Amino acid sequence: MSDHKNGKEIPSLHKVYQDYFHIGAAVNPMTLNSEQEIIKKHFSSITAENEMKFEALHPEEDRFTFETADKILSFAKENGKSVRGHTLVWHNQTSDWIFTDANRKLVDRQTLLKRMERHITTVMERYKGQIYSWDVVNEAVTDSGKNILRDSKWLSIIGDDFIDKAFEYAHQADPDAALFYNDYNESNPEKRDKIFKLVKGLVDKGVPIHGIGMQAHWNLTGPSYDEIRKAIEKYASLGMKIQITEMDVSVFNFNDKRTHFTEPTEEMKVLQAERYQGFFKLFREYADVITSVTFWGATDEYTWLDNFPVKERKNWPFVFDVNHMPKNSFWKIADFN
Ligand code: GLA
Repeated sequence: MSDHKNGKEIPSLHKVYQDYFHIGAAVNPMTLNSEQEIIKKHFSSITAENEMKFEALHPEEDRFTFETADKILSFAKENGKSVRGHTLVWHNQTSDWIFTDANRKLVDRQTLLKRMERHITTVMERYKGQIYSWDVVNEAVTDSGKNILRDSKWLSIIGDDFIDKAFEYAHQADPDAALFYNDYNESNPEKRDKIFKLVKGLVDKGVPIHGIGMQAHWNLTGPSYDEIRKAIEKYASLGMKIQITEMDVSVFNFNDKRTHFTEPTEEMKVLQAERYQGFFKLFREYADVITSVTFWGATDEYTWLDNFPVKERKNWPFVFDVNHMPKNSFWKIADFN
């Protein structure tokens, strides 16, 4: 693939941002092959899309499966990439055995805490020194209603302090890793305030937490720049570092169920480029607290949004197109001077 477009040299995105923050991509064994050149050139940090989640690493109580994650870590090492770890404690993609005994009855608090500790310790010790930040707890806050925490087996079996414990075990396992709480709808004022309360509670209790991951699954109309700015400021006011952890800018709003597009319209392309420009302008303004910006993929050739929230509907959420060429969205964030 050529490194030029219309005679213009294509700069490496992570080098453009080297004085600001890491530029990261979620990768998987397929994209490490199919999108390898883009990943090598433009990203300084990688995250395993699914390969370090609980069910991928720990399918049975006495069986850990590290092969695929190890390969991703080796790729990072060979290519000088930093790694974000994702994720240790979550209500999804977590093997059911951890919550149940041999008779398929739910285990008690002590048993679940022990199992949680063993999982966190084994995984973090294996990759100690190789992972600069970990999503210790993912998506524990509920989107609606008065409660702060969502219903989950972690919550019902252990109680509210399952989050405290997860961070404590993680800190013991790797005292040098930056420990993050990660969530989506993180800029929505109602949810933002719940995340703020949760994290403030942890900080006040002296729980070792160092940052908040803003997933940033955004689109052409929401959230507003103002909402994002407020979220960054509120989170940072707790002394937390911020990482943008799963960024994509869908060309469809969440409730848009249209399926007839075979490529993005001109209007979508123009709007997306403007949005990327606005988001990165904001990120640069807060570069003192933002330590990395990770996309949830690398090019439009592959994105989880091709199947979410509408199955088998193509989406084009990134700054490189399906042929791995830079889009206007790319130039708006790469050429900002
Ligand atoms: C959430 C999780 C990610 C991933 C995305 C969808 O945001 O944190 O690990 O599963 O959903 O791909």
